[in-house]
Amino acid sequence: MGHVYVFDHPLIQHKLTYIRDKRTGTKEFRELVEEVSTLMAYEITRDMPLEEVTVETPVAPAKCKVLSGKKLGLVPILRAGLGMVDGILRLIPTAKVGHLGLYRDPETLEPVQYYSKMPSDIGERDLIVIDPMLATGGSAAAALRILKEMGARNMKLMCLIAAPEGIERVQSEHDDVDIYVAAVDEKLNEKSYIVPGLGDAGDRLFGTK
Ligand code: PRP
Ligand code: URA
Repeated sequence: MGHVYVFDHPLIQHKLTYIRDKRTGTKEFRELVEEVSTLMAYEITRDMPLEEVTVETPVAPAKCKVLSGKKLGLVPILRAGLGMVDGILRLIPTAKVGHLGLYRDPETLEPVQYYSKMPSDIGERDLIVIDPMLATGGSAAAALRILKEMGARNMKLMCLIAAPEGIERVQSEHDDVDIYVAAVDEKLNEKSYIVPGLGDAGDRLFGTK
């Protein structure tokens, strides 16, 4: 079974509070999502492999560590996942970015795919699949399935807010994928929105309604 990691760093929790607040406007919402994504990227990369190198300081040779060059990929689930990309790229600028277009049909709640463009070497990359909201889990579970069909082998799922239902669905369909979130909320409402959540992440990021 995949693990669920909740990033309870005070800065993440503080910023998430203002992301949730309905009085927060589009500009600030977008900036905060980006900032929290950077902080989450710092946490999610804790297990990145290192290798030893020697550099000459002005004083003496020093045995140091650098990232071992494992290839990374980010896969935002469009559209709301886009809001997290730049914040993560700030810390890992060499990551390639694949895009997967899914929207949740408002009637059936089933994810509908409308776009995909992935790095050609997707199977050799450690992928971070990103989406602010894990509600029923339908979109994330479909994204992980689609990416596996394309050859992805090593994936993490990173979301701002998850509902217990979404976590359960991803864990039951993808027991090899760990989930990283800033908060696990109470439940879904009758429209399958996360309660209390933050509302519609895509609309709040892009100013649509
Ligand atoms: C939202 C969100 C997730 C999905 C979560 O996207 O960004 O992708 O819903 O719901 P689920 O877990 O029940 O599938 P939405 O379909 O609203 O599309 P958008 O990002 O284009 O706004
Ligand atoms: N999608 C969102 O943007 N918000 C929710 O609460 C659920 C799905």
